[in-house]
Amino acid sequence: MIIVLFGKPGAGKGTQAPLLAKQLNVPTLATGDVLRAARRAGTPLGREAQSYMDRGALVPDSVILGILKEELSQRQYANGVILDGAVRTVPQAEGLRTMLGTLGRKVDAVLALDIDNEEIVRRLSSRTVCEQCQTPYTGREPESLCEKCGGTLIRRKDDEPEAIRTRLQVYDAETAPVLEWYRRAGDKVVIVGALGTVDEVTKRAQRALER
Ligand code: AP5
Repeated sequence: MIIVLFGKPGAGKGTQAPLLAKQLNVPTLATGDVLRAARRAGTPLGREAQSYMDRGALVPDSVILGILKEELSQRQYANGVILDGAVRTVPQAEGLRTMLGTLGRKVDAVLALDIDNEEIVRRLSSRTVCEQCQTPYTGREPESLCEKCGGTLIRRKDDEPEAIRTRLQVYDAETAPVLEWYRRAGDKVVIVGALGTVDEVTKRAQRALER
């Protein structure tokens, strides 16, 4: 099963992806995590992505499609994947469709987490993430330790107020139209409210995918 997990920055994609992946027994692939790992490793990809990411802009489509092509050819994704934030422009959706088509595969569902901007700002301005395993936390101070792996929690540069504003503008201009693109293409698009506890949102998402 191939699921495109979709939603505004801070909607809860990174929180929900591993939980849904466990239920569906498929791995996750988050382009944001791939890019941050490349930055930490100091690779040319990481250096190219850095300036876009820190100011809240999108990394060029060619870079994202290159990542998807390389990753999705790996055996671990043979039985499916949850693509977390991996499709953010119409050209990316088109490129992914072509790429999967050559492998005889297709997106099974687009799962969009729905949330208002006020809640996004509240979540992102109080978020820290584990430097090692990327687990997000709310209301935990930087330098605290991750419950899952013991790594150090940090504040992301793109969670500064100016970058959050840019990310929301970029979402409206470039990412929101992707949902309509999938609808018009006849793909299954499900929209799930992202307010409530993490567990409530997971259950809502599971039910929506089963329908
Ligand atoms: P990425 O890391 O994917 O950032 P994002 O999409 O902006 O999403 P976030 O990680 O900020 O939020 P999320 O929806 O995962 O929410 P989370 O679960 O963390 O990408 C970073 C950058 O990389 C992009 O800006 C771009 O530059 C580049 N990039 C990546 N992919 C790209 C692509 N395809 N094309 C072009 N560029 C790309 O939750 C947020 C907070 O809320 C956390 O603190 C969490 O604990 C909390 N929370 C979660 N659920 C709940 C809940 N139910 N109740 C209360 N709090 C909750």
